[in-house]
Amino acid sequence: MKAQIGVVGLAVMGQNLALNIARKGYIVAVYNRTSERTKNFVEQRVKGEKIVAAYDLKSFVESLERPRKIILMVKAGSPVDEMIDELLPYLQEGDLLIDAGNSHYEDTNRRLERLSKMGILFLGTGVSGGEYGALHGPSIMPGGTKEAYKLVEEIFLKIAAKTEDGPCCTYVGDYSAGHFVKMVHNGIEYAIMQAIAEVYDIMRKVLGLQPKEIGEIFKKWNEGELSSFLVEITYKIMEKIDEETGKPMVDVILDKAEQKGTGKWTVEAALDLGVPTPSLNLAVVARVLSHFKQQRMELSKLYWQKPIVKADKNLIEYLEKALSLAMFLAYSQGLWLISEASKAFNYGVNLLEILRIWKGGCIIRAKMIDFLREILKENPSNVNLLESQKTVEYLKPRIEPTLKVCQIAREAQIPTPVLNSSLDYLFSMKEANLPANLIQAQRDFFGAHTFERIDKPGIYHIEWQPLE
Ligand SMILES: NC(=O)c1ccc[n+]([C@@H]2O[C@H](COP(=O)([O-])OP(=O)(O)OC[C@H]3O[C@@H](n4cnc5c(N)ncnc54)[C@H](OP(=O)(O)O)[C@@H]3O)[C@@H](O)[C@H]2O)c1
Repeated sequence: MKAQIGVVGLAVMGQNLALNIARKGYIVAVYNRTSERTKNFVEQRVKGEKIVAAYDLKSFVESLERPRKIILMVKAGSPVDEMIDELLPYLQEGDLLIDAGNSHYEDTNRRLERLSKMGILFLGTGVSGGEYGALHGPSIMPGGTKEAYKLVEEIFLKIAAKTEDGPCCTYVGDYSAGHFVKMVHNGIEYAIMQAIAEVYDIMRKVLGLQPKEIGEIFKKWNEGELSSFLVEITYKIMEKIDEETGKPMVDVILDKAEQKGTGKWTVEAALDLGVPTPSLNLAVVARVLSHFKQQRMELSKLYWQKPIVKADKNLIEYLEKALSLAMFLAYSQGLWLISEASKAFNYGVNLLEILRIWKGGCIIRAKMIDFLREILKENPSNVNLLESQKTVEYLKPRIEPTLKVCQIAREAQIPTPVLNSSLDYLFSMKEANLPANLIQAQRDFFGAHTFERIDKPGIYHIEWQPLE
């Protein structure tokens, strides 16, 4: 019997995805560039699942039923192109390649164009949920042609995470829609993670709480409106003790945050498309700043001042409100970006469907998503969610507590880039008169860049000072 689908790339994601598919009753062929990894996988993890291991690409491809469906789960970037090049000689018209890694959406467009000329179908597919999700049910974001999606729809729906609103997989849209949406998912993830880290930092430095106590607070929050995967793992992290030192694990981890690129790409795309995503931008900047550990340690001595710690008895409550505001606004910015990209790139994305498939399996799954869907259902053109009365009623009472949190953090000189930029995003969006009039005047002054007037139509330029 031939295999119904193949997986190329057997690192954490590929192994778990292959097992997930096989456990749903499919025969899965697997291949990895380094044979050792394939051998280890088969020996250590395959327990009765119908997994056929191949040690060369020709026999891998030949073991698949036609049209062939091959999931690429290799390192993003040139490895994807290299794998495609190696596979192409064995493929036939109508076969389907699915790039399920975190590829840049522009690479996906390029690959789609190239492969479609050869009659090979291609799906740029975002997969979220890490290794646990890949095994037990990820959120799957496939983009490309509908025809290509139909070939794997049944398998994808079976292996995806399930919620009361159905499997966490949908046809996201044309071209690179799947990878674009996954990229923005990660951008939102960066912002929520940074907001949680800022709240944790204030609990430690202002309230002097220990990780265990902080864990208890996050655990309680996770039962309320902040209920989410990221808050859940945060309380679990706080509880973890380092076996070597007996200290809380979080205290022995170096404060340098790494990144693989999807956050930065989100910010680049937002700037290119002219969509404001300050919370997402600042979350990336915060990771970049964290890298200057040596310099930060030296400067902390040079600039040392006795910290002003003005703990407010309601601070925990304010922090909960501030985090919910920041989380809401991270989704607001991300959804707005997806919507503008969908228009610019003709993706045809349905934001309600995106929110539905983010309800389970993925890293940014959260109870709040049900509320975001309610808001969007009222008016699907309210893509940043800000115009709804429901949003106004939700955010307004959270402004004051978030301000208090930011003020306390400012006074204690604790950086809160995402909490601050979330407020600045909201303050800018709800400000009828921004000082951009002055910017326009300055631009016209030094560069004759012209400006519009508020009292009559047209484009104007004045002589600000005589040219000598
Ligand atoms: N890890 C996660 O939680 C996660 C979550 C969502 C999405 N993703 C994305 O999913 C993809 C796979 O992630 P991962 O963490 O499982 O693995 P990874 O560390 O990103 O990549 C390792 C895999 O890529 C293969 N590879 C690297 N260069 C290659 C080349 N030039 N030709 C052929 N194969 C090559 C490796 O084969 P060898 O064994 O031969 O080196 C190995 O199978 C990535 O795009 C990643 O960004 C990861």
